[in-house]
Amino acid sequence: RTRRPPAECRHDIDAFTPGLLALYESLKPSEEHMSKQKQLVDSLAKSVSKEWPNAQMHLYGSCANSFGTSHSDVDVCLEMEIGTEGAVEVLLRLADVLRTDGFENVEAITGARVPIVRMSDPGSGFSCDICINNLLAVANTKLLKDYAQIDQRLPQLAFLVKHWAKQRAVNETYRGTLSSYAYVLMCISFLQQREPKILPCLQAMEPTYALTVDGTECAYFDKIDQLQGFGADNKASIAELLWGFFHYWASQHHYKRDVISVRLGKTISKQEKSWTTRVGNDRHLMCIEDPFEIGHDLGRVVDRQTIRILREEMERAAAVLQYDDDPCVTLFEPY
Ligand code: GTP
Ligand code: MG
Repeated sequence: RTRRPPAECRHDIDAFTPGLLALYESLKPSEEHMSKQKQLVDSLAKSVSKEWPNAQMHLYGSCANSFGTSHSDVDVCLEMEIGTEGAVEVLLRLADVLRTDGFENVEAITGARVPIVRMSDPGSGFSCDICINNLLAVANTKLLKDYAQIDQRLPQLAFLVKHWAKQRAVNETYRGTLSSYAYVLMCISFLQQREPKILPCLQAMEPTYALTVDGTECAYFDKIDQLQGFGADNKASIAELLWGFFHYWASQHHYKRDVISVRLGKTISKQEKSWTTRVGNDRHLMCIEDPFEIGHDLGRVVDRQTIRILREEMERAAAVLQYDDDPCVTLFEPY
């Protein structure tokens, strides 16, 4: 294991802010990328409307929540009546339609928690996931996008954390590490708990937006223009926050006891959520509550082995930011 970093960050940490911000700028998708993405969405809409003229298309995930990089895939949700035919049958039919229309590597993945069709666009090479009637994902996409507009340190922090996670191979849910969505929630939660706060807790405020999806109420304050400058009293730089984030997950988070909750803007105990014992495959070793589906733990994929890997990577990251001569490079070295 790496050296355990002390509770205070190095005094010259701000020297690394310009380098980190330059990296952030380089990760943001280019104009060209955005226009190719739009072309893909337009041609997909054409294919879908031939077969399902009443279907509505929503973008979700990082192509719509403002946390997308040039490497992100395109996530699409089709909203439609599916009648007696199940979603799986619809997806299989969709896969056929897409193959006929020239999309490549079309594959229906129907065994997953959220069944999808995955394909790639020959024009752009982008990979695209399509699901049906997953409106909770559309709602949480809007929540993330709204948070991103309150303080620019959120997108900056989240891009750097996502980039770190991809480089260090800890952004692979099928191998027991965390999704990008989970990392963004960890960043929001971290900024909600700074002193003074950098982000508010939108779900604890008077709701101005409400949507009920399959009996789950998604409600929060979404008048973001009224929250401009919310975090201005906190002057922390992005270098300090990035170190603080890793330091929190390396040595301050109480893994055995606590759940992070963006919904409440603080941690709550596993006990309160009855997440103390393993239920089915949900191990609850690292607990991240979904803001709307509150019974859903985004850390459920983590097991005894991968939690160790995750914690070691968090410790490494905190130590690199603390001691390394060139942390902007070392931190993101491929695993
Ligand atoms: P990148 O594609 O890595 O840039 O990030 P992303 O934001 O698109 O994240 P990801 O592909 O992990 O997830 C896509 C969207 O699915 C998220 O933004 C959420 O809206 C939604 N989602 C809801 N529940 C889950 C879940 O349990 N796991 C994941 N991965 N996504 C979920
Ligand atoms: Mg995605």
